[in-house]
Amino acid sequence: MCGIVGYIGEKNATPIILGGLKKLEYRGYDSAGIAVIEEGNIELRRDVGKLVNLEKLVEQQPLSGKIGIGHTRWATHGAPSAKNAHPHIGETGDVVIVHNGIVENYLELKEELEAEGAHFNSETDTETIVHLIERNLGSGVSLEKAVRLSLQRIKGAHGIVVISSKEPDKIIAARIGNAGGVVIGYGEGEMFVASDIPAILEYTRRMSFLESQQMAVVTRENATITTLDGKAVPAKIDTIAWDPVAAVKGNYRHFMQKEIHEQARSLIDTLTGRVDFENNRINLMNLNLDAEKARKFNKVIITACGTAYHAGLVGKTMIETIARIPTEVDIASEFRYRDPLVDENTCVLTISQSGETADTLAAMEEARNKKAMVFSIVNAIGSQAMRVADGYISMQVGPEIGVASTKAFTAPLVDLYLFAIYLADLRGTLSEEERYRSIYDLRVIPDLAGKCLKREDAVREVAEKIKDIHNILYLGRGINMPIAYEGALKLKEISYIHAEAYPAGEMKHGPIALIDQDMPVLAIMPKDQWYEKMLSQVEQAKARGGILILVATDGDERAGELGDDVLWIPEAPWMLTPVFATIPLQMLAYHIAAIRGLDVDQPRNLAKSVTVE
Ligand code: F6R
Repeated sequence: MCGIVGYIGEKNATPIILGGLKKLEYRGYDSAGIAVIEEGNIELRRDVGKLVNLEKLVEQQPLSGKIGIGHTRWATHGAPSAKNAHPHIGETGDVVIVHNGIVENYLELKEELEAEGAHFNSETDTETIVHLIERNLGSGVSLEKAVRLSLQRIKGAHGIVVISSKEPDKIIAARIGNAGGVVIGYGEGEMFVASDIPAILEYTRRMSFLESQQMAVVTRENATITTLDGKAVPAKIDTIAWDPVAAVKGNYRHFMQKEIHEQARSLIDTLTGRVDFENNRINLMNLNLDAEKARKFNKVIITACGTAYHAGLVGKTMIETIARIPTEVDIASEFRYRDPLVDENTCVLTISQSGETADTLAAMEEARNKKAMVFSIVNAIGSQAMRVADGYISMQVGPEIGVASTKAFTAPLVDLYLFAIYLADLRGTLSEEERYRSIYDLRVIPDLAGKCLKREDAVREVAEKIKDIHNILYLGRGINMPIAYEGALKLKEISYIHAEAYPAGEMKHGPIALIDQDMPVLAIMPKDQWYEKMLSQVEQAKARGGILILVATDGDERAGELGDDVLWIPEAPWMLTPVFATIPLQMLAYHIAAIRGLDVDQPRNLAKSVTVE
């Protein structure tokens, strides 16, 4: 969704802001803009489309200054266009802002402001904020006060950053609710503001994160943080361990391909420091969970969106099998509005790569209001989902740039497995022998993930064969049923091919009518307890003339005979097969989209971090 970058210091702000916006490109956007204070005046450049358009514009009409703000926009109110792009400048030309979120009462405010003579230049809700600030400035208050007063008038969730040519020594940033993060970066004689860590990681690792209802006045030297009603808040500065190099494409054609390959490493990192193979123990210390709390749980509810929701579905089987606690999985946008049956003995676990997904955060809030214990599995360090939880598991996969989630899907699969063991152990329901077996099985993960990755050429050949299909049906059962959902989601989001996924046992209740030579079937059938059942469903599809692509275990002769193509995966403990069945499906989706010449890393209409409802 929208991205924000701000700079104040002694250097030229323009390349720093454009460079920061480039690092946020993966989030998805439709227009971009930059404003700097140049010789006492605000200079503004905005353009529709990719950042390169803005860069060209800035080349033709350069701007430079030591303070500035930039934005990439994902349209909510008003079509993508140069005039609707941020930053938005007021009528006096003295104030300029960038904004993430939706001003829910903007029509009412716009009417009020227009009645007072304000002229709007865009179709955006954001423009109301800059008019409000100007109106307040007109009464003689400081910029800080004017922003505070304006924020009191707007409804909804917001991240906003403001500069003014009348007070060119500061950036004002604020956060209300969950419309993406606001990060303050601390340099030497220079400071940064951004919606996301990668935008400024090249310059500093020392960062503070604004909570909801907080505001920061950022000067060259420091940041003063207060609540919106003016109470001082001590700044907590975290040091971010992410490697900026991780956010560079390297020799790979796309970030998605790079991130698929990074799974060999990210899965090792997922185990490191959490699994004690010598003593057969799991330690998830950031969960802040002890035996007393864990024993209180009467159920677990996992709630998340998209790919993270699919990980949750796999987690259900793991938690119910290992910890024997009833586990529900719900889509966050449903959970938040369905008045869920949750109480102080419910463990609500959310999963989120960005940690800023609006629906997921609202689901956490709903759970919290109902007194549940709330935990999260999160990738983005310092994100809201990490901060507001009672405890968290950090994914340890580094920044994920490709919009289609890959390494941030397989890591939580393993995190959920660790969580299930940890929970069972704390509750005293896991025998020594079961604990030993479950932990022992984890050893194979890095090696088997590596084996799957080495088979990319074979997957590419299958991609080449089926690249022109229009539809495909994904089937799976048991613990791999969610992997069918995930495989289909990956394909549709980056290749725009219609892919549907079904629990294989449901095929005969309807979708079987679709199967013919134009509707390939991709069936996930590793050698596990659902294998025989999968086999018979695959036979049924074959009998209807369907082209079969199978994900099967090395050495499975029956699969070799039945499948038009087989994506082979190594033999693995059944509860961990989802990790290995996922990798060829990620590679298949990737290669089909790449062969079709599509924009793999930034598919149309999608955003990396969905900070609106
Ligand atoms: C698909 C994808 C999305 C996200 C979803 C939730 O590849 O990435 O479906 O999984 O938008 O995002 P997070 O995990 O950031 O909460």
